[in-house]
Amino acid sequence: MGGAMEQQRFGGDWTLIKLGILGEYLRAFTTALKNQPFRLVYIDAFAGTGRCKVNTSSGEREVDGSARIALRVNPPFDQFVFIEE
Ligand SMILES: C[S@@+](CC[C@H](N)C(=O)[O-])C[C@H]1O[C@@H](n2cnc3c(N)ncnc32)[C@H](O)[C@@H]1O
Repeated sequence: MGGAMEQQRFGGDWTLIKLGILGEYLRAFTTALKNQPFRLVYIDAFAGTGRCKVNTSSGEREVDGSARIALRVNPPFDQFVFIEE
C-alpha cells in the first residue's frame, strides 16, 4: 500500500458516498456470514494506500480509503488481499 501513511488525492463528494456505502456493505456482509463454516477473504484489486485526500464541494477532506475501512470492519474478515500497481 505504498508508504506507511502515504496519501493519495482523488475523487469528490461521490467518493465519500462510495466509501460510506462500502463500509456499511462490508459490515452487513461479515455480519450475515459470521457463523458460516468458511473463512472470509477481502480482496481489493485497486486498493490504493488506505488513506486519501478528497476534494469535496466543502473543501479538501482527508479520509480512510477502502483498505483501511475493510481492515476495521466488525465482525472482521479472516484474511486480506490488497492489490495495487
Ligand atoms: C481511486 S484509487 C484508490 C481506490 C481505493 N479502492 C479506495 O476506495 O480508497 C484507485 C487505485 O487503483 C490503482 N490502480 C489503477 N490501475 C491499477 C491496476 N491495473 N492494478 C492495480 N491497481 C491499479 C491506482 O494506483 C490507485 O491507487
